[in-house]
Amino acid sequence: VADACVDTFQRPLKDLRLSVIDQCNFRCTYCMPKDVFTRDYPFLRAAERLSFEEMVALSKTFVALGVEKIRITGGEPLLRRDLPRLVEALARLETPAGRPVEIALTTNGTLLAAQARALKDAGLARATVSLDALDDAVFRAMNDVGFPVSAVLDGIEAATAAGLAPLKVNAVIKKSANADQVLPLARHFRHTGVHLRFIEYMDVGGADGWMRDEVVSAAEMRAQIAHEFALLPRDGDRASDTADTFRYADGGGDVGFIASVSAPFCGDCTRARVSADGKLFLCLFGTRSLDLRAVLRSGDAGALERTIRTAWRARADRYSADRGALLARGARRYPVVRMSLVGG
Ligand code: GTP
Ligand code: 5AD
Ligand code: SF4
Ligand code: SF4
Repeated sequence: VADACVDTFQRPLKDLRLSVIDQCNFRCTYCMPKDVFTRDYPFLRAAERLSFEEMVALSKTFVALGVEKIRITGGEPLLRRDLPRLVEALARLETPAGRPVEIALTTNGTLLAAQARALKDAGLARATVSLDALDDAVFRAMNDVGFPVSAVLDGIEAATAAGLAPLKVNAVIKKSANADQVLPLARHFRHTGVHLRFIEYMDVGGADGWMRDEVVSAAEMRAQIAHEFALLPRDGDRASDTADTFRYADGGGDVGFIASVSAPFCGDCTRARVSADGKLFLCLFGTRSLDLRAVLRSGDAGALERTIRTAWRARADRYSADRGALLARGARRYPVVRMSLVGG
């Protein structure tokens, strides 16, 4: 490519996380605590959100600049009506080298049983379902709306049956809430083909009461599992991947750990984020954003590409890597952007 799009740390633009809606039917305490996300919380109005046509136009531009994977996020993306229609259009995109763009989805799984088949048929390549506990009482307390585990397990099963495999499951572990769920989750998903990943509890916007003491480190979680099942390293992951992946020595499958607090992966971060109202965030913890919707609605395709390229070239974000220093300087926590707005 004549002028590759790299930032100030030479990180190329490779992934787009596209949020399609900022609402969710869960109130996970670490993401959308009920006392903040009340009944009258000012969620985006439908007219403020990008249309699918606008999302496709935007995605085309990102693909021209190097994006190879688009992950659809929320809030809960399956709350956006007709999502398969968006997937179908995105799945038709090709990289400048003529390869298809990989379309993935991160969902809480509650609406997946009803939509898995349509999403697969529309060209969705991969799905990731969040599930923080196998114990029903623990899970109900974490999603804070009393949603049962069984509904999410049904979604996982339907997605697998629809061919959305290998499916990934994300489990955020927060010490006082679900540290005792690491082993039950690991045992449950071994030998199922589901790729389970444990995530360190992060200080993202929404997790207002974040405290370092509540983090269970990836190393601790791995040790817990390795105590019961021998683990071997696995090769072949991309440097920019969020997870460190291992495989069970007995052939039980893969298990991963996302150590964004104890071992930040900013050095290889190739991800751009766009909120449902078309704001570009260059980091999950970015507090500033750039209004791409205005540029998009001006109808000048060249301007859109120039705007994104210029922003990415100036990018210097590495929040997780800097977090330690920020905390040491006495900052309690920094971010103000809502996780549910930028989709994690
Ligand atoms: P794959 O394509 O399967 O590798 O997905 P992913 O891990 O990139 O995305 P997913 O939506 O499954 O996110 C998993 C966890 O990693 C969530 O807790 C995200 O908030 C977190 N995460 C994803 N990208 C970043 C990132 O760039 N920085 C940080 N700090 N966390 C991230
Ligand atoms: N820390 C870590 N992961 C989080 N997620 C949401 N909030 C947090 C947090 N505070 C996860 C969700 C989902 C993914 C997109 O981000 O569980 O799997
Ligand atoms: Fe909803 Fe996911 Fe946030 Fe939970 S973590 S409130 S499921 S967006
Ligand atoms: Fe990328 Fe920011 Fe996450 Fe670091 S903290 S990996 S720069 S999104």
